[in-house]
Amino acid sequence: MEPPLLATVDALAAFAPVTASVASHGVPSPLTWPLAAHRERAAEAAIARHFQAAWEVTASLRGGEAGAREALDGLVTTALAEMRADVAERAGQKLLSRIAADLDRLFHAPNGLEILDGTDVDEATRARVVRHLHAINGLLGNYDAFYGQLRPYLRAGSRVLDLAAGRGGFAIAAARRAAGEGLSVEFVATDWCSTSLAIGRAAAGDLPVTFEHQDALDLRNREPASFDVVTSTQALHHFRPGQIAVMLAEATRVARRRVVFLDGARCPVAGALVTAFGSVAFQDGVWARDTWMSFRRFFVPEELRVIARLAVPHRNVVSDVVAPGHCRVVVTAGG
Ligand SMILES: C[S@@+](CC[C@H](N)C(=O)[O-])C[C@H]1O[C@@H](n2cnc3c(N)ncnc32)[C@H](O)[C@@H]1O
Repeated sequence: MEPPLLATVDALAAFAPVTASVASHGVPSPLTWPLAAHRERAAEAAIARHFQAAWEVTASLRGGEAGAREALDGLVTTALAEMRADVAERAGQKLLSRIAADLDRLFHAPNGLEILDGTDVDEATRARVVRHLHAINGLLGNYDAFYGQLRPYLRAGSRVLDLAAGRGGFAIAAARRAAGEGLSVEFVATDWCSTSLAIGRAAAGDLPVTFEHQDALDLRNREPASFDVVTSTQALHHFRPGQIAVMLAEATRVARRRVVFLDGARCPVAGALVTAFGSVAFQDGVWARDTWMSFRRFFVPEELRVIARLAVPHRNVVSDVVAPGHCRVVVTAGG
């Protein structure tokens, strides 16, 4: 039965221009800014400490040496743990930043599991939760914001590989936007969940989006420079820091132009707002539980910068916040 309030997901679309406009300006969080300077300094220190070792390990990885993937995973895991401990120590020196750091420590759940991570979730529940995620993405203008991040690297005839794409909500929205601009861009949306791929295939219709099975953590089946852009949206928090490093290194090999990874930024305030709003609108306990857990698993941009700078030390990396509350990692792969 549909919830009585905001009766259908479609009804939310009426609010999208207003919410997306507010969200596009970003909302400063009182629990993020007291930590920002500490995170910056701790990130730079961690990068400096491990840069030389990362340079050597990633050269071995590019050379296809056995054990290089595991070595990079281990190095980045250590670097990130050190960075987080350093942030706590630096923040401890002032009351406001200490409170923010303590709250972040309580909130952060890097090993938390979402209900949809389980294999025993029935298809109807899975489809309903994904539909509600899709509605929130539309309402907050997330797909438009993500497309804006890709757009500078798209040309006529570009090919985009989308990793952990789920049912391809973003790839479909982006293909529609590109077609609307008269730009012929081909998207290959990949995931390891066959059900999501099948839903996406049906939803894509005539748009230039194809769906393929792919483990996002192992791209050894993909040719070097075989896509102009390799992207992934709202999936990084499903992976450990060391896994993201290997994924980024491999994506950089597969991309001709850029790697553009986007995910939510960890923030209890934003998490509470989105979860509370969606709980009322959707009345879907599984969606609410998973959304709250996602916010607790998200990284912050400075953490992703440590991961990315060590994963591709020979490349230019940008890692910062994108409104409304996302992290972006952009790696210059080639031209
Ligand atoms: C939160 S959804 C994000 C979906 C989509 N990118 C979006 O922006 O809505 C996370 C997705 O990651 C996929 N996933 C998790 N681990 C994966 C892996 N190792 N390889 C491929 N897909 C994976 C899940 O099946 C799920 O579809």
